[in-house]
Amino acid sequence: MHIELRDIRKHFGPVKANDGINLVFEGGRIYGLLGENGAGKSTLMKILSGFQPPDSGEIVIDGQPQRFSSPAEALGKGIGMLYQDPLDIPAFNVKDNYLLGRDRRVILNYKTARAELDEITSRFSFEIDQQATIENLSLGERQQLELTRLLVGGAQFLILDEPTTGISADQKDKLFNSIRKLAWEEGKTIILVSHKLDEVQELCGEAMILRKGKMVGRTPVPCSNEQLVEKMFGQIPLRGERPVYEVGEPVLELQNVRIPTYRLTVENINLTVRAGEIFGLAGLEGSGQQLVLKACAGLVKNDQGRISLAGQDITHWSYQRLRTAGIGYIAAGRLEEGLVAGLTITEHLVLSQPSHKFFIDWASAQKQSEARITQFQVVGRPESLADELSGGNQQRLLFGLLWESLKLILLEHPTRGLDVRSSDWIWEQLYARRNSGTAILFMSSDLDEIIDRSDRIAVFSGGKMSRILDAKTTSVEEVGRLIGGQE
Ligand SMILES: Nc1ncnc2c1ncn2[C@@H]1O[C@H](COP(=O)(O)OP(=O)(O)OP(=O)(O)O)[C@@H](O)[C@H]1O
Ligand SMILES: [Mg+2]
Repeated sequence: MHIELRDIRKHFGPVKANDGINLVFEGGRIYGLLGENGAGKSTLMKILSGFQPPDSGEIVIDGQPQRFSSPAEALGKGIGMLYQDPLDIPAFNVKDNYLLGRDRRVILNYKTARAELDEITSRFSFEIDQQATIENLSLGERQQLELTRLLVGGAQFLILDEPTTGISADQKDKLFNSIRKLAWEEGKTIILVSHKLDEVQELCGEAMILRKGKMVGRTPVPCSNEQLVEKMFGQIPLRGERPVYEVGEPVLELQNVRIPTYRLTVENINLTVRAGEIFGLAGLEGSGQQLVLKACAGLVKNDQGRISLAGQDITHWSYQRLRTAGIGYIAAGRLEEGLVAGLTITEHLVLSQPSHKFFIDWASAQKQSEARITQFQVVGRPESLADELSGGNQQRLLFGLLWESLKLILLEHPTRGLDVRSSDWIWEQLYARRNSGTAILFMSSDLDEIIDRSDRIAVFSGGKMSRILDAKTTSVEEVGRLIGGQE
């Protein structure tokens, strides 16, 4: 399959998201698509996969110009895309969700569906519990489900938009092996959109770099990371030194906390995070670290043990009450738990304010919104809808919505989907918060981030928490062993 993009243009108001892009893709190859946040990567891939039309330009498949009016049409021509934020229907179970995406017959043929699902999941050694409902699946499992659906749908050309953000190293290896199989054994073409240069180096044969809506380079990989970074930003960003900070009084304390859930029970959690401390939680996805964060945010309940904030017992307090008490929380699912699609930046700001006055002063909200946009360098306008922002800009907006003075910030994958420069920027914001005494508890599937950014680390495995490690003296190997459940 030979695909060519000719002079693709897509503007959103004043933003030239795609500004005359020409590209050619050959079958059986794995391409990396790189570019800083807002460069136009997702826009281009959504055009290619029929999710949105270009303003002008052509998609040519094997010499034939195409016009797609929906992703289903593009999939009919062999192009399938795994979106940055998975678009599932949460309440259905795996089998139904899978069937819904395929045909619209009223009577669902469970037997055939099951056989197809089984064949593909075993070929790629995916592990999906077919009876589980979608909301109970981890991000990695949802992705595998989505990928399965695309393959059954006949995809020859697969676009993966940041597929490894939020999944574990183990799931990533599985995914990469499947991708290699698809390209090398089955001749499919793969485009991997990613901010992780090492992944592009590991998996791809060629990298294409977008900057401000234009293609600025193509290079065979592996090559040096510096070469890629320079093409992405036009310069090599400098990384700030990690500031040294003396930690203070205990802010968050967990004593013998137990959280039972349908899938996993987290037990014997004893943990203290002090003022100004950055505490990192490592572990494979679904090992319990996320449940601990959610319990501290008031989103799941512990049935044993005690959670306290600055000495006060806050066990079983509601999310709203905890917010008012000074706990800020940023969830992994930006558009599911954090931001609301269809609401503007200004509306988000108004909704996130501590107290709701009866009358909203929209003029001043608009001003505040402009100020936050500038301060947090969000590429957008006060009236931009949250779902129109690029992934990186959504994350910046979430940070812009955190209240000014907080005792504790809880974060799931704080730099998920961010380019190198934006990740550093987020951590500078967090360092500034800790310098004013805020305690920070975060989880991440990026081991380097855990080790580089934390003061102390705990590793989760099957609902159990390891001994607490000092980030300065531990190593990737030690953390890796604990993640695998070894001592
Ligand atoms: N539906 C839309 N309406 C308005 N603006 C949009 C829309 N979609 C994208 N944009 C804007 O177009 C630009 C490119 O966005 P895009 O999502 O393609 O970037 P990206 O390269 O995927 O970035 P990231 O790495 O952050 O995901 C951004 O400035 C974004 O705000
Ligand atoms: Mg994107």
